[in-house]
Amino acid sequence: SLTDPNSLALDGKRVVITAGGTREPLDPVRFLGNKSSGKQGIALAQVAQRMGAEVKLICAHVDIDIPEDISTVRVSTGLELKNQVENLSRDADILIMAAAVADFRPVAYEEFKIKKNADTNDAPTIELVRNPDILREIVVRRQQEKQQQPAVIVGFAAETGSAEKSYLSLGREKLVRKGCDFLAVNDVSNNAGFGTDSNALTILSKFNNQEIHCEGTKEEVSSELLLAVAQHLSEPLT
Ligand code: CTP
Ligand code: CA
Repeated sequence: SLTDPNSLALDGKRVVITAGGTREPLDPVRFLGNKSSGKQGIALAQVAQRMGAEVKLICAHVDIDIPEDISTVRVSTGLELKNQVENLSRDADILIMAAAVADFRPVAYEEFKIKKNADTNDAPTIELVRNPDILREIVVRRQQEKQQQPAVIVGFAAETGSAEKSYLSLGREKLVRKGCDFLAVNDVSNNAGFGTDSNALTILSKFNNQEIHCEGTKEEVSSELLLAVAQHLSEPLT
């Protein structure tokens, strides 16, 4: 509401948000994809805009309509996403990487549809190559430049945890490895988070050991995350 003291917490801030899942093409009709619905990234864009930000959404494949009032660039592959992030985040205050970027893409794109061999039971082996780590590259670029932009870089991580490690300790390690300022960690061990309207996130910060746990609709958790980011922008910890 307009009486909410936080309602314009991002007034005039330039915010770049990625959303959805990339698709890495194999042939004209097939791709490697993932289960990201794009709902969390789109909710972040809507809430940031409501908080007064100038939002640019870089949107890969999503299951829902993108609100018409959000300035959006559509992409498909991880490499396309990387190009847009590199360009649009150059003069952004905040970058939020909510997109699910494929870690690997097929080495080759087959110009013609891959066919079964009618005479044998053979199956092809698909060779993969690593996609660039976009988040990591933007962090490194910021370290190398005088102009420290984006001032806040936020990553997302969906973790299941393992026999040895909880999803949160994996998140801590990932925050350090990526070098981003905040990491929003999502426990997906029971498929929670994918495609649903609600989410449970723990926000980790590189500046302290605080763990902000939030649960609610994707809009509610978006506003928690964006408030933590706005707070850091106005009173940076180092
Ligand atoms: N990310 C990215 N570029 C990639 C892969 C991931 O920018 N090629 C970003 C995601 O958008 C997300 C963050 O990195 O904000 C964490 O993604 P995640 O898949 O959890 O991390 P990975 O480093 O790929 O580790 P994992 O092996 O667990 O998938
Ligand atoms: Ca990954």
